[in-house]
Amino acid sequence: MKKYFHQKRMLAPVLGAVLVGLLVSPALARMGENQPCSNCHTMHNSQGGVSMAVDADGVATTTPNMALLIKTGCVACHTGNNSSTSGTPYVFDTNKTMDLAGGNFAWVNDDQTFGHNVLDINTADSLLANVPPGGSALTAQLTCAGTNGCHGDRAASTQFGAVSGAHHGKADTTDGTMNGGDLVNSYRMLLGVKGIEDSTWEKAPTALLHNQYYGIDRSLESTATVDGSGNPVTISALCAACHGTFHADVAGTDGVLADAMSSPWIRHPTDFDMNQVSATEYGAYGGINNDYLPGVPVASNDLASVRSIVLQAAGDAIVTCVSCHRVHGSPNADMLRWDYTGMVAHAGDNSTGCFACHTTKDDL
Ligand code: HEC
Ligand code: HEC
Ligand code: HEC
Ligand code: HEC
Ligand code: HEC
Repeated sequence: MKKYFHQKRMLAPVLGAVLVGLLVSPALARMGENQPCSNCHTMHNSQGGVSMAVDADGVATTTPNMALLIKTGCVACHTGNNSSTSGTPYVFDTNKTMDLAGGNFAWVNDDQTFGHNVLDINTADSLLANVPPGGSALTAQLTCAGTNGCHGDRAASTQFGAVSGAHHGKADTTDGTMNGGDLVNSYRMLLGVKGIEDSTWEKAPTALLHNQYYGIDRSLESTATVDGSGNPVTISALCAACHGTFHADVAGTDGVLADAMSSPWIRHPTDFDMNQVSATEYGAYGGINNDYLPGVPVASNDLASVRSIVLQAAGDAIVTCVSCHRVHGSPNADMLRWDYTGMVAHAGDNSTGCFACHTTKDDL
């Protein structure tokens, strides 16, 4: 038995690398490849004296759009059905059958606590308004990109200014590994963030094929390393740009190296490596082989490859905000990946949700 497990461990990373190499990915294709400019742009918002631009509902409008685009805003292009073969990641999919890694904003229209209430998707959250819990108020409703959003350069005041050039840009590598050096080389156009992009945005993730989130064990590294020089480096530090308190250490501050990053905690740890506590229940994440669980992902500080098994080396099993949340939207309160009311302690065998890591808390 032992020998079998050992062989599997050796084989899995090799197989993963081969598979990733074989898939010529739509995500790595550049925007508009092999298409005429006129599919997306209008130079003067006029042709034969008639407006070319259309609003979010597809109705012609005399108001020209930013970046000379025919369609209004980000949401217009990013609305569609993910079960089709389109090369566009749809983040608003009313079918709700194939939600991508970030989830699906369509859930937010069912219940405002199911996701971020982004402009062009829903009105502002009636309870939280524009105040991110754990942080300070934004100047206006959340947007996809820019100062009041997540994507692009958060120092840019307009959404298209924030992502300018990113859709036509070509990353330095072809295997989806993003070093965060500039916007084109940032994970999912989140400026500064590192990671490996799954070519299908996790339409059907497995232990071998999935986004590789980047994390840093903050008990070993300083805030500057995690939060980056101006821009966040880890996906959790990006969340912390708005929800800072929830990324804090035991002293309640966000990542002072001298502060404790250990039990007993005052808020759930993030950017914390489960290898530190693998002698206890956390060592059983992913079962006997420690398989990566795409439904309860952990981040890694090493982007040499997509991890199919974890808890093999320090830094490969880091708790992150997106271990528990789907940032665009999910069918659950607090945009959680699972229904929190279903997480019942010591009620019998359960390996999902909280129990993926707290593997003994289901025991009778
Ligand atoms: C004209 C249609 C169109 C518009 C407008 C548009 N997008 Fe996109 N977007 C696409 C397509 C197609 C892709 C996939 C190809 C690519 O990655 O460039 C994409 C990819 C992306 C990705 C994923 C990149 C990756 O790493 O996989 C993000 C993030 C994104 N867009 C955000 C935005 C934001 C934010 C806006 C508004 C400021 C926006 N998009 C406006 C069509 C559009
Ligand atoms: C640009 C600032 C910003 C960033 C970055 C951001 N958020 Fe938020 N978040 C907000 C605001 C504002 C609200 C309150 C409004 C709302 O819920 O729509 C919110 C609400 C939430 C909620 C509560 C939703 C509810 O209604 O109960 C969760 C959970 C959340 N964010 C998680 C995250 C995670 C995880 C990340 C990182 C992947 C993140 N956020 C990044 C601004 C941000
Ligand atoms: C499939 C849609 C699509 C096609 C086709 C397309 N573009 Fe774009 N283009 C976009 C989107 C979306 C943006 C804005 C987002 C961004 O800058 O990332 C953009 C931005 C731009 C920008 C400003 C940012 C930059 O990259 O410098 C220029 C210039 C541009 N396009 C020129 C062109 C030209 C010229 C063509 C034809 C040869 C073309 N585009 C074809 C979608 C398209
Ligand atoms: C991705 C793995 C992971 C998931 C999912 C997860 N946790 Fe944790 N949790 C941890 C780790 C690691 C610690 C830190 C343990 C330590 O320092 O000894 C922790 C700490 C805690 C603590 C504090 C323990 C202490 O010693 O102070 C509580 C309580 C807790 N988690 C509850 C939950 C609940 C409830 C859920 C589901 C909503 C959940 N966790 C989901 C990994 C996870
Ligand atoms: C271990 C799972 C887990 C992790 C990791 C986690 N959360 Fe949460 N989050 C929850 C749960 C469960 C709730 C429900 C409220 C509660 O229990 O405090 C929640 C609620 C929230 C809320 C809503 C709070 C409100 O007042 O409505 C925000 C915002 C949020 N999380 C952001 C984050 C951010 C940002 C991170 C990373 C820095 C993060 N979460 C990491 C499980 C998690």
